[in-house]
Amino acid sequence: MFTASELLERINSHIAELQFVRTPQGLYAPVTYVLSMGGKRIRPVLMLMAYNLYREDITRILNPATGIEVYHNYTLLHDDLMDRADRRRGKETVHKVWNDNAAILSGDAMLVLAYQFMAQCPVEHLKEVMDIFSLTALEICEGQQLDMEFEHRNDVKTEEYLEMIRLKTSVLLAASLKIGALLGGASSEDAERLYDFGMNLGVAFQLKDDFLDVYGDAAVFGKNIGGDILCDKKTYMLIKAFEHADAGQLDCLNAWVGVVSFNPEEKIAAVTELYDRIGVKELCEKKMEEYSERAMESLLAVKVADEKKEELKNLIANLMHREV
Ligand code: IPE
Ligand code: IPE
Ligand code: MG
Ligand code: MG
Ligand code: MG
Repeated sequence: MFTASELLERINSHIAELQFVRTPQGLYAPVTYVLSMGGKRIRPVLMLMAYNLYREDITRILNPATGIEVYHNYTLLHDDLMDRADRRRGKETVHKVWNDNAAILSGDAMLVLAYQFMAQCPVEHLKEVMDIFSLTALEICEGQQLDMEFEHRNDVKTEEYLEMIRLKTSVLLAASLKIGALLGGASSEDAERLYDFGMNLGVAFQLKDDFLDVYGDAAVFGKNIGGDILCDKKTYMLIKAFEHADAGQLDCLNAWVGVVSFNPEEKIAAVTELYDRIGVKELCEKKMEEYSERAMESLLAVKVADEKKEELKNLIANLMHREV
């Protein structure tokens, strides 16, 4: 069996060797740019880890694993445009280096490239894998749509938030694991258990991402801090802030959230201070913990030897303690 860092190395060198030789160069330059900026590569690593629970010949699925990462990077190009985000992985985003149209069109090309890579999976699983991938891709659009709609609502409930992040984030982690498991020859029950594991892990993962968007260190996180606050994103922290605010704090929140014209630095500072005073940091950490425990439980249910699950267990802890 391979360790997570060995698998990360394998997928990284596979991606580093990719060459996009077609023209026009202007379409492919942003693709190379975003793929060379690094990132945690968590989705292909999860796919390889799930596969590796059942089989050793991981080279066989490096192309579908690349497909899932190219797909994820496509969502980032469009997401940064939608979220008006200027920095990612410590660098300027594609729409800043080039322009909005470049992010749209190179993103579109990446979606197609992702399908091409995914379709290079072992042929006996082709139909099943492409069906999972396509459904997942649709669900992510649905999640992103809800994320955008929620920006303009102040009555979003916790359950709605959880459903939104399941769609925009968890399903991709879950599908990566499920596809890896199926390609490795897992039973459909085990593939489903790994899917559940990914769903719970994904919720914890997005809660942590939202947390770092407020409390992270920009130099480490690689994205600008406070972006979610500026967009009025209905994160768990903002929903809980509305729920737990006293009358004075509620007035302050309403003076910033949903307001059209403001000074960005002032808004980030004011809302963060409200979060601190209301105590939503702790609530968010508690929720994260709850979902990482759920992830651990789903992992325990997978019918492979305990020692094979060690790397995945460690990965849960590492993702919960990450700063990036
Ligand atoms: C960012 O994903 C988008 C979310 C779903 C939070 P990652 O945090 O996996 O970003 P990279 O790929 O490591 O940069
Ligand atoms: C990510 O949500 C979801 C997708 C990219 C599909 P975010 O908008 O929170 O991701 P970051 O913080 O920009 O990476
Ligand atoms: Mg974003
Ligand atoms: Mg977003
Ligand atoms: Mg985020």
